[in-house]
Amino acid sequence: MRLSPRFSLVVAAGLAAWLGACQLDKDQKPARPVIHYSLSAATTAAGEDGEPVIPADVQTNIAGSLAMLFGTPENPQFQLLPEWKDEGFNPNWPAYPVGEDGSGEVDLGSLEADNRLYWRRQIAAIEAGQWARVFVQDFTPDLREKWNELCAQTPEEARGEDFKKAAVELFVGYYPRLSASAELYRQHCLHCHGAEGGGDGPTAPFLNPRPRDYRHGTFKFTAVGKSVPRRVDLYRILDEGVTGTSMPSFRRFSQAQLHGLVDYVRLLSMRGMVERSLVGTYVEEEMLTSADVADAYQTVWEKWNKANEKALVFEGEVPLPTPETIAHGRELFMDAKAGNCFSCHGAEGRGDGASAFALDPETGEIKPTYKDDWGNEILPRNLRLGIFRGGRRPIDLYRRIKNGIAGGPMPEAASTLSSDDIWHLVHYVGAISERPQHAPKAASHGDAHGDAPASGDGHGTEKH
Ligand code: HEC
Ligand code: HEC
Repeated sequence: MRLSPRFSLVVAAGLAAWLGACQLDKDQKPARPVIHYSLSAATTAAGEDGEPVIPADVQTNIAGSLAMLFGTPENPQFQLLPEWKDEGFNPNWPAYPVGEDGSGEVDLGSLEADNRLYWRRQIAAIEAGQWARVFVQDFTPDLREKWNELCAQTPEEARGEDFKKAAVELFVGYYPRLSASAELYRQHCLHCHGAEGGGDGPTAPFLNPRPRDYRHGTFKFTAVGKSVPRRVDLYRILDEGVTGTSMPSFRRFSQAQLHGLVDYVRLLSMRGMVERSLVGTYVEEEMLTSADVADAYQTVWEKWNKANEKALVFEGEVPLPTPETIAHGRELFMDAKAGNCFSCHGAEGRGDGASAFALDPETGEIKPTYKDDWGNEILPRNLRLGIFRGGRRPIDLYRRIKNGIAGGPMPEAASTLSSDDIWHLVHYVGAISERPQHAPKAASHGDAHGDAPASGDGHGTEKH
């Protein structure tokens, strides 16, 4: 395209005026409606008489308590427990302590290295003293604010090495505030997962499986079985997505942004758990006190703080598949008293086992037997496809089989089978998949550990 000289001039003048400013224009943000957290359908449900089960004034109390404990979508915030003040624990980043107390799993070194890479153009511009070039499309709002503040403090002619150092530190040490993560969530997750994380965003009705409803605290593809997840479990989901479903990978974000999203998913999940717990208390006691609210909040936090202890880590040497272990896996798969996998997954592993379907006596139709915790029909997986939502490294399959899959009918095998048996099932499942990951003869050590040699050691001690 050729531009008329006059048009180019106007554009150039506009660009120059814009580039000359260090201050980024705040009005670049498009206008948009304010969103609110709503109460869940379970809280506002009507009883048989058409009256709400939870009276309107109690509903108002619940909404108020939740706002006090978790803030609003514009300004999400965890309320601090009194004892946290003494311990110096504050889950509202960026004052979140990194280390033994609470967060633990955020590796600052790796975060900073990643920030240095992610913001490399900004850092190069700062080092070259080209302030106007410190700009990118997806400049996150809180970083933009800090950058503007720093610029406002030091006029251009006074910017020396100290300024450069402080400016670089801003980018290298970046960790999003909860409100910035909520904004990122709004842009990238809300349309599927909903404002409250109820799995009910506008896109959700078109999806199968449905996006996760975080409010139960139930997550499927973790290392912790039925417990609430560890930070790393959620991080891994965001990093890798859920293969074979509409849940995408968000690897294009920086580590800091992904950790921020994890913080926000945790907040929504805890908020939902507290809401469910308050509804349960009211239904039982027909009243709700502020002590109940404090109790619910504390109990939910204790669960999340204990998640790390629940991780299933395999300490031993991961056994390599052999024709014998695969054959033994097949036996366990088919044995009703051992794995009993065939009853759901079918003798061929195609997800068509007898117990997965039942005849509807009214319509005479054959329908899925099982529903998940959210009331949606669920079918056993076709294992032949080799699409494993929780990851296809042997340790992933080991965890799925040993712990079962939370929120649905897939049972845990931990109580009936030894860890060797479970590895043999892993070998069998790997061997029948159309994308086999175990070649019994050519099995080098690397093969046995799946297809992600860079990220996993196969022993469950991986970072993400
Ligand atoms: C296009 C729709 C879509 C978008 C966008 C989306 N998700 Fe999901 N998400 C899903 C679906 C579907 C599942 C459930 C997959 C399943 O059950 O197998 C899911 C599952 C999850 C889970 C639960 C995984 C588990 O182990 O149970 C988390 C956490 C999650 N998403 C977070 C996010 C976050 C954070 C974002 C935004 C950065 C996001 N998702 C964006 C569709 C989406
Ligand atoms: C009661 C029915 C039932 C039984 C018994 C059962 N499963 Fe499943 N299994 C399921 C369902 C349902 C899913 C899909 C879960 C989901 O997507 O939430 C599943 C999923 C899986 C997956 C996919 C995991 C992933 O990451 O995507 C594997 C592997 C699996 N089962 C293996 C087994 C093995 C091995 C056994 C026997 C030890 C077994 N299952 C027994 C119902 C069952």
